Amino acid sequence: MRAYVLKQYGGPEGSQLMDVPAPVPRPRDILVEVRAAGLNPVDFKFRQGKLRAILRPKLPFVLGNEFAGEVIAVGSDVKRFGVGDRVFARVAKDRAGAFAEQACVDEDDAAHMPRNLDFTAAAAVPLAALTALQALRDELGVQPGQKLFISGGAGGVGTFAIQIAKGMGAYVTTTASKRGEALVRSLGCDEVIDYTVQDISSEQGRFDAGLELIGGKTLEQMFEIMKPGARIVSVAALPEPQTAIRDLGDRRALAAIFWLISYGIRSRARRAGVSYRYLFMHPSGSDLALLAELIEQGKLKAVVDRTYPFARIAEALDYVESGRAKGKVVVTNP
Ligand SMILES: NC(=O)c1ccc[n+]([C@@H]2O[C@H](COP(=O)([O-])OP(=O)(O)OC[C@H]3O[C@@H](n4cnc5c(N)ncnc54)[C@H](OP(=O)(O)O)[C@@H]3O)[C@@H](O)[C@H]2O)c1
Repeated sequence: MRAYVLKQYGGPEGSQLMDVPAPVPRPRDILVEVRAAGLNPVDFKFRQGKLRAILRPKLPFVLGNEFAGEVIAVGSDVKRFGVGDRVFARVAKDRAGAFAEQACVDEDDAAHMPRNLDFTAAAAVPLAALTALQALRDELGVQPGQKLFISGGAGGVGTFAIQIAKGMGAYVTTTASKRGEALVRSLGCDEVIDYTVQDISSEQGRFDAGLELIGGKTLEQMFEIMKPGARIVSVAALPEPQTAIRDLGDRRALAAIFWLISYGIRSRARRAGVSYRYLFMHPSGSDLALLAELIEQGKLKAVVDRTYPFARIAEALDYVESGRAKGKVVVTNP
């Protein structure tokens, strides 16, 4: 089968479309004919080798973290899926393999596709929507009437986060440039700050909770705009030790490194009286089923910015790497 394979960390030249053997399902796996795969910043960061400290699979390695498609075989212990089912999934990080004609996923990480979506829109959902849901529900515990700030609302995660937060009853403010403003407003955002002309620091002490999708200076400024006692969860900055210990297994040395490099962020959070957490999103078939329900009820939609044929995946990944995508980018198999 054709697959987009990482052969050497670095630039795009280290990855290529090539023929590889089709994956063989383990007992709890479903084997899926991939009809569309979503792209995410993690794909180019992984290709660059930026995640090597926490994830180091043997190369060559088939890239890609989410897909939608049709089940073509099931492992001996699979209970919930059968051949012909239309499914979508965020694949476990250490397996990946979504940028291929066929991919395997543990049945616990997959769900039936929303009936009202085609494969392209369904492939745009898993990673970004699960991230938004888990951050807002599990880390921030967003409550009706709370003032929530989301940095970078026009991208993959942000477009889902705005809709989910509005569904939870929050008052949502986000940053977007002129290019993204109409989009975030169409998703229900209450206030938009154009980060290219206005510094968010002027919003001092206004927010009960923050979802941080940009990192760097944006995170630093977010501490200033929170009320004392507020919570910030970031998926773009640095893991703090609690998350590192929980999510990186028993690699204590790594947790110590994250303790050290997140020290500045944690000190800043303490000074502002704000709690800071990092989130590694988790694949979850049950959360995906919940998102599918919201989509079928018309309460959540996937925003697909661009689609590319699978053969042009390198170009699609370049576009994601440009950092300008509005919503999601998807590659489709014929
Ligand atoms: N930890 C996890 O488990 C996890 C999960 C998912 C994602 N992430 C991370 O979360 C981050 C966001 O992911 P994503 O998929 O949403 O990214 P994305 O789709 O690539 O985000 C692109 C959007 O960000 C906007 N943007 C860029 N710079 C901005 C700034 N300074 N302020 C406000 N908006 C800005 C761009 O808008 P303009 O073009 O208008 O500037 C563009 O629409 C990435 O770093 C990703 O790796 C982590």
